[in-house]
Amino acid sequence: PNMNTTFYGHSCFSVEINGYKILFDPFISPNPAASNIDVESIEADYVLLSHGHEDHIADAEAILKRTGATLIANFEIVSWYGAKGHEKSHPLNHGGSVQLPFGKVKFVNAVHSSVLPDGSYGGNPGGFVVESNECNFYFSGDTALTYDMKILGEFHKLDWAVLCIGDNFTMGYEDAAICADWIGVDKVLGTHFDTFPYIEIDHSAASQHFASKGKQLLLPATGETISI
Ligand code: NI
Ligand code: MN
Repeated sequence: PNMNTTFYGHSCFSVEINGYKILFDPFISPNPAASNIDVESIEADYVLLSHGHEDHIADAEAILKRTGATLIANFEIVSWYGAKGHEKSHPLNHGGSVQLPFGKVKFVNAVHSSVLPDGSYGGNPGGFVVESNECNFYFSGDTALTYDMKILGEFHKLDWAVLCIGDNFTMGYEDAAICADWIGVDKVLGTHFDTFPYIEIDHSAASQHFASKGKQLLLPATGETISI
């Protein structure tokens, strides 16, 4: 695989596939750890949202409006942005996939919760499997470790994954390493850690734990672009 990904802090990252820029879970302006990021400079052709929590969608509305990007999320979240006037979107629900110009996106299970910032029902939370001629990867969103992940390893040929590792609200890094094993990937971009006191982690312990399983945990600096 050969793909560039940029980490924007917390669970926000972008990838470029076949010339299209795909942004996931933008939470930048409220995140002190991402104060070095100029939200206005982020380009996007597609914005994918895993669930409705504020720490995954805070900057989505402004970015969608400025870029004219297509929103991909569950039906409830797409409808919520539709009511705000953003009609350029594609709704999914669990197990469903859509073929987009850059590749195929499938909405998959997550064990978590999902409510929108104004209290609206956010549908059920999910993750995404993205498959293209360039690279295949899984973004877990916020989730517990669940046996459903074994299905991903069985029926998808994944090159890498973006997994939550901060514990408390999601998988910790030990469960994320088990997930990586089940889905058959050796390279994991860690997300959802350090942003809040509840999810602070020991970076070297997390990296060493992955290394002890023969896997690599990528912890780029906020704003850093790395090649996968
Ligand atoms: Ni959440
Ligand atoms: Mn979260």
